[in-house]
Amino acid sequence: MSHPIPALEVRGLGKSFPIGGLFSRDSVRALHGVDLTIGRGEIVALVGESGSGKSTLARCVARLEKPGEGAILLAGVDVLKRDRFQASRAFRSQLQMVFQDPFGSLNPAHRIEHFLRRSLAIHGKGGHTETETQTRLEELMATVGLQADMLDSYPHELSGGQRQRVAIARALAVEPQVILADEPTSMLDVSVRIGVLNLMRKLRDEKGISMLYITHDLASARYLADRTAVMFAGELVEEGESLDLLANPAHPYTQLLVSAVPDPARAGSYDPIRRAQLRQAVMASTGCAFDRDPDQPCSADEPVRHQVGGPENRHWVRCHLYRPRAGAGGHALAAEPAAAASTQAGHPASNLPKKASA
Ligand SMILES: Nc1ncnc2c1ncn2[C@@H]1O[C@H](COP(=O)(O)OP(=O)(O)OP(=O)(O)O)[C@@H](O)[C@H]1O
Ligand SMILES: [Mg+2]
Repeated sequence: MSHPIPALEVRGLGKSFPIGGLFSRDSVRALHGVDLTIGRGEIVALVGESGSGKSTLARCVARLEKPGEGAILLAGVDVLKRDRFQASRAFRSQLQMVFQDPFGSLNPAHRIEHFLRRSLAIHGKGGHTETETQTRLEELMATVGLQADMLDSYPHELSGGQRQRVAIARALAVEPQVILADEPTSMLDVSVRIGVLNLMRKLRDEKGISMLYITHDLASARYLADRTAVMFAGELVEEGESLDLLANPAHPYTQLLVSAVPDPARAGSYDPIRRAQLRQAVMASTGCAFDRDPDQPCSADEPVRHQVGGPENRHWVRCHLYRPRAGAGGHALAAEPAAAASTQAGHPASNLPKKASA
């Protein structure tokens, strides 16, 4: 079914940033042991709270940042091993990045045509004649759902959604196999977000482009992404098919993220106490990025990956607390937050604010 060699494979990626000035030896660990695979024509969402390392991962893959360790394979080729200069143009033609702020990435002094023409020219995709280039420009505009006469416009004359479409067209001009989209819709009005998501979906379905879709919006991850990976403090803690992962989050951190999403189907279900308990369970999952408590006996070991559900399920979690639940096919946390809540006074859970209605 799927191509044997994935479009993108990240293995054991690590990255630290020095902090505290030029001569300081302190560093902040932004990524640690990240393994991630994106198949051909697959969209993988990367979610996690601010500062968890999502952009750093994308920037390392795009070679805007040099990882400390690990390997990045693009269609099976280790891009970090290739000579930088020789590899860079070939690399760019296979992988493109789309950023959060479409205004910032389009120089206001140029017309839209300039950005697309330049992209075509650099990568030799503009054809041999001016007529061919013109056709290609119009095709690109049509692909991203813009009128061809907008080629004459300046970025400030476009709406945010239109500008993001131009940024996507510019990436597409190169005919890449992989697009890394770092929160491409977060600065757009809600009303135009769905259009950009549908465009990304169309590019996957019709052109077989693989994508890493970084977002804070779990609903859009569910809508767009085949799989979703959850990052916490620079480590992936859970990954699975989006529908399964978001319906049955196994890691307390994923549960915490999911519980923050207002869900009309669960009207009135937003429960601050449950959220506080989840946060506590997150902190109790020792041995992983969540907690480095030296007094906890298991914190010396990093948690291993557990399969969630049956073997056909491509869903795993890394958490010491995870216990497969026999029979039902569901799962539980060894220290179920709900159980923790029922303990008597003195347990930190009892210090949580009480619900007004209770
Ligand atoms: N150039 C840098 N120098 C120093 N530290 C950095 C640098 N870039 C990122 N970091 C740190 O690395 C960590 C991960 O940052 P990153 O931007 O990847 O997070 P993120 O998940 O993309 O967050 P957000 O959702 O806010 O975009 C943070 O602690 C951040 O402060
Ligand atoms: Mg970011």
